[in-house]
Amino acid sequence: MSKTLVTYLSQTGNTKKIAEAIFEGVEGDKTIKPMDEVQEIEDYSLIFIGFPVHSHSVPYKTEDFLRKIPPGKKIALFSTHGSLPGGHLATEALEHAAVIASKAKILGTFSCRGKVSMEAIEVLSKSPEHKAWAEMAPSSQTHPDEGDLEDARSFAKRIIMLTQD
Ligand SMILES: Cc1cc2nc3c(=O)[nH]c(=O)nc-3n(C[C@H](O)[C@H](O)[C@H](O)COP(=O)(O)O)c2cc1C
Repeated sequence: MSKTLVTYLSQTGNTKKIAEAIFEGVEGDKTIKPMDEVQEIEDYSLIFIGFPVHSHSVPYKTEDFLRKIPPGKKIALFSTHGSLPGGHLATEALEHAAVIASKAKILGTFSCRGKVSMEAIEVLSKSPEHKAWAEMAPSSQTHPDEGDLEDARSFAKRIIMLTQD
């Protein structure tokens, strides 16, 4: 029997919301769990793995999780970020995640914006490392919005269709 896991890391709830929308879009036998509660990776035939972009990259806990994925396992990656969509700032962490998990079978990726508190923007935009994305972040306040959640549900459905070919 095919079983799907949706797992995520989320500090302030944005990636969790996207994970829940993906979970809604998945049909069949399915489980949703925060990343640090997942033990039995082998039980699942498909795993959606989500994380917030931190410092242009993948948080360490997610890196560790990705390194444990057995070769050939079907996975789909998703992330949330404060920067504007479309540019390299929004996709470089996903690309890095795909390299870490390159022995897995990556069926697709999804990303959208997630709000950053004004207090965090204020602090982060003062550091050279964060300046580039933090300057774009004030307009992320309404995300993830209903459009993002709908896109995430559609992403889940597309990935599930790929597993049925
Ligand atoms: C310490 C820190 C570093 C961040 N670094 C980036 C970054 O490099 N690029 C970016 O687009 N967003 C960055 N963000 C914004 C988060 O990726 C975004 O708010 C995300 O939706 C948070 O997800 P969460 O609510 O699931 O934790 C950062 C946020 C924090 C708190």
